[in-house]
Amino acid sequence: MEPVVAVIGATGAVGDVFLRVAEQREFPMKQLKLLASPRSVGKQLTFRGQQITVEDTTERTLERADIIFCSASSAVSKQWGPWARAHNAVMIDDGSAYRMDADVPLVVPEVNGDDLEWHKGIVSIPNCTTTPLAMALNAMRQVAPLKRVTAASYQAVTGTGAAAAAELQAQLEAIGRHEPIPAPVVYPVQIAGNVLPQVDDFDEDDYTKEELKMRNETRKILHLDDLPFAATCVRVPVMLCHSEAVHVEFTAEAPIPRIIDALRSQAGVEVSADPKVYMTPLQAAGDDTVYVSRIRRDPTVEFGIVFWVVTDNLRKGAATNAIQIAEEMLRRGLVPGVSKP
Ligand SMILES: NC(=O)c1ccc[n+]([C@@H]2O[C@H](COP(=O)([O-])OP(=O)(O)OC[C@H]3O[C@@H](n4cnc5c(N)ncnc54)[C@H](OP(=O)(O)O)[C@@H]3O)[C@@H](O)[C@H]2O)c1
Repeated sequence: MEPVVAVIGATGAVGDVFLRVAEQREFPMKQLKLLASPRSVGKQLTFRGQQITVEDTTERTLERADIIFCSASSAVSKQWGPWARAHNAVMIDDGSAYRMDADVPLVVPEVNGDDLEWHKGIVSIPNCTTTPLAMALNAMRQVAPLKRVTAASYQAVTGTGAAAAAELQAQLEAIGRHEPIPAPVVYPVQIAGNVLPQVDDFDEDDYTKEELKMRNETRKILHLDDLPFAATCVRVPVMLCHSEAVHVEFTAEAPIPRIIDALRSQAGVEVSADPKVYMTPLQAAGDDTVYVSRIRRDPTVEFGIVFWVVTDNLRKGAATNAIQIAEEMLRRGLVPGVSKP
């Protein structure tokens, strides 16, 4: 039996990519409902060659949904998560509202798909910088236990959503025409030609929420609650794909050839064994692969390496991971009311 699927946030940056990924992966569904805010009611979106009219997100439009993909905001997730639970549906949530809740699995299927077994109606996907990092670290810990991780991110504007992408585009066009640059609205300062060492709001110990998400979510996915971890998250004037420079310290010898072999064995990861051959955001855009390159020894610690990882934030960082979770739940018979294929 195929599920009835509802997408909350279908008109957003993630929602748009979600539809393309669902087409490409031929995600099974009996019916698809495309939902957003009242602003978008009546818009037409194309799916599998058919025009589907966007509807408001209400109890009526969610009725009969077996799987609800939510890519909107924390407030929207909080509004509909309890409803999904109460109505025997599963919400797969792209936002941060439930990620750290003890009764909500936070899942990258290639790393901790087994955590889906204890879901209680809501499953969260990680932040778009966490997913690729967790996949790379999961491979590396097969070689030696992780002792400490530090990372700096270089995050694309689509990570903030469609309005941020439009803001960068407008600023770039104004620069190209030698016209006054429109005042920033989404970001605190101009993003074109700039880098902002702040992603999301400031939080405890002078870290930003994004930096704490990266730390806490990585720990939860890897089941390493005390992993020493510090990150600096930076927004860069790149349209698509997040990059990260990561330092990993191990508790024992972790030879680079073995690290490379472990990364080659990790589903969803491609690794460059040549330290001079690397991936950039423009090259990584449009596919689901986590690209690891520039692996080299960290001479400042006894057992450590440094590497570079690049991923399409809207695909594996969001839409693809959400769809993979649903595929895995269907395969395991974990969607209430939907029998195993
Ligand atoms: N962008 C990424 O790389 C990324 C990665 C991982 C996770 N996420 C998460 O995914 C979520 C969506 O991000 P995005 O980048 O797609 O944002 P976005 O481009 O700003 O889109 C937001 C979507 O939410 C809808 N929405 C807003 N208010 C709503 C309401 N009251 N009821 C129902 N729908 C409502 C919007 O509909 P209207 O068009 O009608 O306003 C739009 O479809 C966020 O929680 C974000 O943290 C994003």
